[in-house]
Amino acid sequence: MTRILIDCDPGLDDAVALLAACHSPLLDVVAITTVAGNVGGAQTAQNGRIIRTLADSEDIPVHAGAPRPILRDPVTAEDFHGTTGLGGLDVPEPSAPLSPTHAVNALIEHCRAAKSDLLTLVMTGPMTNMALALTMAPDIMEGISEIVLMGGADREGGNITPFAEFNIYADPHAAAAVFGCGLPIRCLSLDVTHTLRTTKDRLSQVRAVDTSQADYAAAFLEASCKLEFSAKGRRDAPLHDPSTVIALAYPHLFEGRRAHVSVVTQEGEQFGRTIPHFADDGPVLWYDKADVEGVFKALCAMLEGAA
Ligand code: BDR
Ligand code: CA
Repeated sequence: MTRILIDCDPGLDDAVALLAACHSPLLDVVAITTVAGNVGGAQTAQNGRIIRTLADSEDIPVHAGAPRPILRDPVTAEDFHGTTGLGGLDVPEPSAPLSPTHAVNALIEHCRAAKSDLLTLVMTGPMTNMALALTMAPDIMEGISEIVLMGGADREGGNITPFAEFNIYADPHAAAAVFGCGLPIRCLSLDVTHTLRTTKDRLSQVRAVDTSQADYAAAFLEASCKLEFSAKGRRDAPLHDPSTVIALAYPHLFEGRRAHVSVVTQEGEQFGRTIPHFADDGPVLWYDKADVEGVFKALCAMLEGAA
């Protein structure tokens, strides 16, 4: 069982990632930290609590984090997630409260406590919390075995500008700090997530899984497809954030190349662009290929609670 902390900005696809991770026997989610991103910080924290309730995982603490990026003006992605971040779907009131500990302090505490049993950090939103934690307490790197993140784009081009992917564009300075920190990173960029399309058949496979987590995941994926259609004119929304936890639980489904990754932090048309410099000694495994059917089967297995 891999011990993970999930730093996220829920978000419809973050929600599916959280449901899959919390229900999978292969992963042990020790905490959820939230950050402003798809919607504002108060709403992502509220959504973190809601999804924890849907996941039947009230024992996992949810910590609210940075309400804005480090330097740039805040940007959000309501076009793809709705004004609530959860596609306007009917969701229950969360039962457990937020933890009183700020996400950045929680990250620091969990990493420091993990020294004998290293922690994997999963990041599915702007990387503000981790950049702040690394700045406040660089020693936390000793407690982290690797970072698995969704963000960036190379051959695919961007999804928020022609060059930039949303999570990086929303806080490029934070992303530069994380990509440059030297820890091993596995990166699920648009180069691979754009191949993971939620077709009708794949959505039906998720819907057929007989757990409440799968029912909610199917509803979130369906809402994602509807919003993708309004925003981009195609219905089969990419499976962005769940790819992180699937790659962790089932690494054989993905292939990539090692790279050093730099981030364009200078304002201009390439602001927020990621540039992988491919080299065998790079700290980043830049995934660019996946067994697509295998990935959706793995998602179903996780939502079913199977190994
Ligand atoms: C990423 O941006 C967000 O809108 C999604 O939740 C995902 O993390 C995809 O570019
Ligand atoms: Ca996200």
